[in-house]
Amino acid sequence: MEEIYQQFIIDLYKNPLNFGKMEEPTYRAELGNATCGDSIELFIKIDSNGKVSESKFIGKGCAISQASASLFTGYLKGKSVEQLNIITKDDCLALLKINLDKNPSRMRCALLVFDTFKKAVDQKS
Ligand code: FES
Repeated sequence: MEEIYQQFIIDLYKNPLNFGKMEEPTYRAELGNATCGDSIELFIKIDSNGKVSESKFIGKGCAISQASASLFTGYLKGKSVEQLNIITKDDCLALLKINLDKNPSRMRCALLVFDTFKKAVDQKS
């Protein structure tokens, strides 16, 4: 097993956080990883105070993509709409606490949720 598959990533793969559909999301988008055919659908709900009250995802993918989606959806909760607009891919990658600089295919997996998030936010604005 590759070193990058740390135990917490495997745990999140087996028991993903924030996994499920959402009724009437404020933001929604679906995006696929062209190299493997996996995809993620992301849902974000903004409350009346302009903050993320709920963030969820569905879809299938490898351990890294599912762990990243679990962590990133949790990271979004409580953020204001203004804060959403300045989140970077490095913020997303930092949540995984692994270095994927030398592994571009795994990098795509890790960033699938971020790319889906950007698509959702860009569609709305
Ligand atoms: Fe498909 Fe990682 S192999 S998302």
